[in-house]
Amino acid sequence: MRIGTLTLDTRVLQSPMAGCTDLAFRLVARPRGMGFAFLEMVSATALVRTNRKTLELMRSLPEDRPLGAQLIGSDPAMMAEASVRVEAMGFELLDLNLGCPAPKMVKGEDGAGAALLTKPERASEIFRAVLRAVRRIPVTVKMRIGFTDASGREALEIARRAQDSGILALCVHGRTRQQGYTGKADYEAIGRVKRAVSIPVFGNGDVYTGEDARRLTEVSGCDAVMIGRGGLGNPWLYREAEAALSGAPRPAPPSWEDRLTALGEHLEHEVRIQGSERALRPMRRVACWYVAGKPGAAEFRRRICAAATIDEMRLLIESLRPSPSQ
Ligand SMILES: Cc1cc2nc3c(=O)[nH]c(=O)nc-3n(C[C@H](O)[C@H](O)[C@H](O)COP(=O)(O)O)c2cc1C
Repeated sequence: MRIGTLTLDTRVLQSPMAGCTDLAFRLVARPRGMGFAFLEMVSATALVRTNRKTLELMRSLPEDRPLGAQLIGSDPAMMAEASVRVEAMGFELLDLNLGCPAPKMVKGEDGAGAALLTKPERASEIFRAVLRAVRRIPVTVKMRIGFTDASGREALEIARRAQDSGILALCVHGRTRQQGYTGKADYEAIGRVKRAVSIPVFGNGDVYTGEDARRLTEVSGCDAVMIGRGGLGNPWLYREAEAALSGAPRPAPPSWEDRLTALGEHLEHEVRIQGSERALRPMRRVACWYVAGKPGAAEFRRRICAAATIDEMRLLIESLRPSPSQ
């Protein structure tokens, strides 16, 4: 699939997720089949001010490509200036966030994220300002189906405006802002957006299996699927979804040992990137992703949260491997 200058050789993308899709997450998933990923969203204002934490969120490595960055903000000039920086940093794609439901973004920042769904004129100004500023990389928009209105009417309006401004693809999350992350993603509403535009549409919401990916494309007619929470602790999902979309047999599911190996790698990447002390807190959360729903997950969670050091975590993970005689 072509998106401007970018050729995507996958129909399965990893969605941006704040606090989740960091460099360590991506380094674990790349060799296991993740073809395209996003950084978590970054504030346009923070990037323009060269905020240290924001730059840390944007770290990458050559093996972590292709990679998209995502900006959130509501001021067209600020978004344009931040876009120039994103392009200069070498990302392959820039996405504009029109979906974040967090009150800090929707009520603060002069109405950013999902609030822009209710301000189509402002959204158009942002699209135009960013597209004037960006020279080379494709610009996309990620949005929800509405703010409170689940009919998809708001998304349709934004989608048409985005396309008319020169935005090259859309990602549509099939929930309203009001729903947050609850309820079921509405694949029919994604389909209504898909049919209203001619640019590629990526469908998003509730893809946890290859079968979910197949159903999302079948119901909505979307061109690609974007995986959100399903990718957490499941770096094998991208290949499973690719296989389902192309009608290939389902790859063998990961064994318990595969899960522990991936978790161990995630921990070592996080330690290398952040240092042992800073890695401890996120790893308590991350470790639970890899065993979620498996027998013994509750006990594992209790023990990993009790670990006081990274070394204790390492020992715990190793102790869970089946012994060679088993
Ligand atoms: C913890 C968390 C952080 C998220 N951060 C972002 C973000 O930075 N940018 C964005 O566009 N969407 C963000 N999202 C939304 C996801 O990308 C995705 O659209 C949503 O979770 C729906 O997909 P899913 O049902 O497969 O999880 C976030 C979601 C979660 C749960």
